[in-house]
Amino acid sequence: MILETKRLIIRPIALDDKDEIFEYRSDRETNKYQGWIPTTVADVEIFIGKISKQINEPGTWFQFAIVEKETKKVVGDLGVHFFDSENKQVEIGCTLNKYFQHQGYATEAVKSVIDYLFKELNKHRIITSIDPDNKNSIRLVERIGFRKEAHFVESLWVNGKWVDDLIYALIEKDWEKLNW
Ligand SMILES: CC(C)(COP(=O)(O)OP(=O)(O)OC[C@H]1O[C@@H](n2cnc3c(N)ncnc32)[C@H](O)[C@@H]1OP(=O)(O)O)[C@@H](O)C(=O)NCCC(=O)NCCS
Repeated sequence: MILETKRLIIRPIALDDKDEIFEYRSDRETNKYQGWIPTTVADVEIFIGKISKQINEPGTWFQFAIVEKETKKVVGDLGVHFFDSENKQVEIGCTLNKYFQHQGYATEAVKSVIDYLFKELNKHRIITSIDPDNKNSIRLVERIGFRKEAHFVESLWVNGKWVDDLIYALIEKDWEKLNW
């Protein structure tokens, strides 16, 4: 399954993407709010190997590569966690190579995947978990129309310390009203 937007192709991640993914995912400063930071390309290979090959499998993560149409470069990735036993709710997370941030690519990719999740996979609710200091992510989800639902205090152990966690969510009927 491949999604297309004005400037991007969003397609399942592949083993051949490992070098480009390592290039930006190993960047500790950009990814300081992320739980997973690879130290070798082999770490990325293991990561890709563990990801579900099938989208929409309860209890698994599915990972999309975000590819710039013009250059064919993998500029980021977008994960979808099918965490709900009823399979009506998912969690999403997005990472962009720092050289491709602040151009609207994340907004374009996330909106396209949300549309697919609601319209094709008939999901009811999409959530995302964000560190309160991760201002770019907060701006991204608020721009798209997510509602802030919770602020958990020191609820996650990330990179050797307890951190707060914001939960943002979007339900299908609100997405319809947003009329993007
Ligand atoms: C979260 C993340 C993907 C957001 O990326 P981003 O570049 O800020 O978001 P977008 O690509 O949608 O770009 C939006 C910005 O580009 C600007 N922009 C410039 N040209 C644009 C265009 N042609 N179209 C739309 N927006 C444009 C927007 O005004 C906006 O600016 P603002 O953030 O100052 O308001 C990025 O910060 C990231 O990868 N962080 C590291 C990983 C991480 O922590 N992920 C979150 C955990 S899941």
